[in-house]
Amino acid sequence: MAQRLYREDPLTPEEREEFEVDLIAFCDRELDRLGEIEGLRVLYAGGASPLWLEGLSQRIGAEGSLTALEADGERLAVARASLREMDLDAPVQFVQGDVFEPPFGADAFDLVYSAGLFHELDVRERPAEDALAALVGVVRPGGRVATSDFVDSTAAAQIEDEELSRELARASSGAILYGIGPPERLVALHERVLSGVRSISSPPFAIRHLDKIVLSEKDHSEGLRIPHQARRELRRRREDSREQVRREGYTRPTTIYVEGIVPGG
Ligand SMILES: C[S@@+](CC[C@H](N)C(=O)[O-])C[C@H]1O[C@@H](n2cnc3c(N)ncnc32)[C@H](O)[C@@H]1O
Repeated sequence: MAQRLYREDPLTPEEREEFEVDLIAFCDRELDRLGEIEGLRVLYAGGASPLWLEGLSQRIGAEGSLTALEADGERLAVARASLREMDLDAPVQFVQGDVFEPPFGADAFDLVYSAGLFHELDVRERPAEDALAALVGVVRPGGRVATSDFVDSTAAAQIEDEELSRELARASSGAILYGIGPPERLVALHERVLSGVRSISSPPFAIRHLDKIVLSEKDHSEGLRIPHQARRELRRRREDSREQVRREGYTRPTTIYVEGIVPGG
């Protein structure tokens, strides 16, 4: 098994080390935006990456609590297995569910945080505002809701990549993902349901060797039921985007951090 993993890994051990160092640094930069969160009851909404959960747990400490709410059962199982061996400061409670209907009572948390959730949110039936309002509903009055996500204020190879994933989701399942948009859109979304909204924009964060990982990925449209014409068009765009990555590397988007206070505190 280890041999197979090694053969499939497009990175040398040194490159993987550098890749992980950069991923941790990116994660730390975003999590530091939250400021002091020690002792808080925190909900991490939409995501189960061990890296983000570990970073949050360290910052929360033993006096607080951390709950991860994620729709994808497989992602949760992987995260649960990889965190099991770690002696985390704040142990993680994993919950499978939908951010549009978080299965928690009012006042269950002091802080809800998401990183990269919104651009992957399926808004075909309900708008993104409903998800944010539902998350606001599980935070005590005076608590915070905070969001980190990519925005389209600078051109980046990753934006085209995410747009292709969005169109693939639409062609194969009818999902309409919120996608990566202008920073003003995310800020306005938060202003509709929170008070005292503030935001911080952060420049693109390069991750060494991410280009090699992206270029080694298989075509995600393989095996999906997609109309012929749409498949051809998506393949053509994928090839163009990979060519650009070979030439220029996998350039990354700007990130925005938005937070606001839950009214009534
Ligand atoms: C880009 S990933 C988030 C990356 C994140 N930093 C992490 O820790 O995994 C977006 C995540 O949101 C989850 N997601 C999307 N829509 C959701 C929903 N309606 N409810 C719960 N999770 C959702 C996806 O399954 C995916 O794991």
